[in-house]
Amino acid sequence: MPDNFKLDLIHRPRRLRRTASLRALTEETVLHAADFIAPLFVVDGKSRPEEIKSMSGVFRLGIGDLVKECCALHRLGVRAVALFPKLDPKLKDHEGTQALNEESLILRAVRAVKQAVPELAILTDVALDPYTTHGHDGVLTAEMDDVENDRTVGILTRMAVMQARAGVDLVAPSDMMDGRVGAIRRALDAAGFSGTGIMAYSAKFNSGYYGPFRDAVGSAQAAGTRLLSKATYQLNPANRREAIAEALLDESEGADILMVKPAGLYLDIIRDIREVTRKPVAAYQISGEYAQIHAAAKLGWLDLARCRHESLIAIKRAGADMILTYFAKEMAAELGR
Ligand code: PBG
Repeated sequence: MPDNFKLDLIHRPRRLRRTASLRALTEETVLHAADFIAPLFVVDGKSRPEEIKSMSGVFRLGIGDLVKECCALHRLGVRAVALFPKLDPKLKDHEGTQALNEESLILRAVRAVKQAVPELAILTDVALDPYTTHGHDGVLTAEMDDVENDRTVGILTRMAVMQARAGVDLVAPSDMMDGRVGAIRRALDAAGFSGTGIMAYSAKFNSGYYGPFRDAVGSAQAAGTRLLSKATYQLNPANRREAIAEALLDESEGADILMVKPAGLYLDIIRDIREVTRKPVAAYQISGEYAQIHAAAKLGWLDLARCRHESLIAIKRAGADMILTYFAKEMAAELGR
């Protein structure tokens, strides 16, 4: 090849990548602090935050610290938090009865946060896994070989109404039972909470990447329930059509926001659902996605700030309007308001 080789090109896409200004002008996807929802773990009677081993930088917080964290997030421009309780194992039972206690940890936490930062939107999971000894998202049959769909949904409707009464802005059914969104919508309306929204975990896959979260809330037992796996209710990771069908069902039952979970491994599903609905689409960058990036960064194999940013850009680019992520606070601090 001679040294003076010249292509006769009209189109040279690199022209627009030449300087930082040109790159900024042509940037198609931009992250903002308001895109993020911060998942937070709350625990009873902890004087000091307790770090979750498999999730560097994520802590279980007592209610006092939780309130402080919510104020800090709000100051940084984060508009919403998703609260998860870590129960004292002594309070768990087969039926998850603590889920229907008016003085439960999560409801006390919601009331405290609402009082301190009323503008901050609060989401809470509607599912029984933090409350059951077996760690499943619903109640089991006598033979313990299945989660009883309809009886579980009945409990979830009551749970959702209690959460709405405590001040939750969006209830988030994460159980994947059939018909739960419609039943929760009717129950909320009947109880006078027509303004409380539903963010449905619509396409929630049966993922191995939930491991660190199950450490965090202590629901890991379900993985080991001999007769029963979450595969009987969560989606098969192989199924794309079924994920779209689930999302459309939730929309028809009255979901206000449709969520895909996990996020980074399911970008095709985020895009598919974005294209079939006009509702907002949320994606949950889950514990395992977070832990992977952190673990590799700790070993010096990945650059944390770059990979964190890239992982979230990919999720937004795929079509997510909002992202639940354990990186919410660092990202908001990095991006500014
Ligand atoms: C439970 C629930 C799970 C997560 C949120 N709600 C895990 C599960 O289904 O076992 C996972 C979140 C994460 O991994 O970050 N209903």
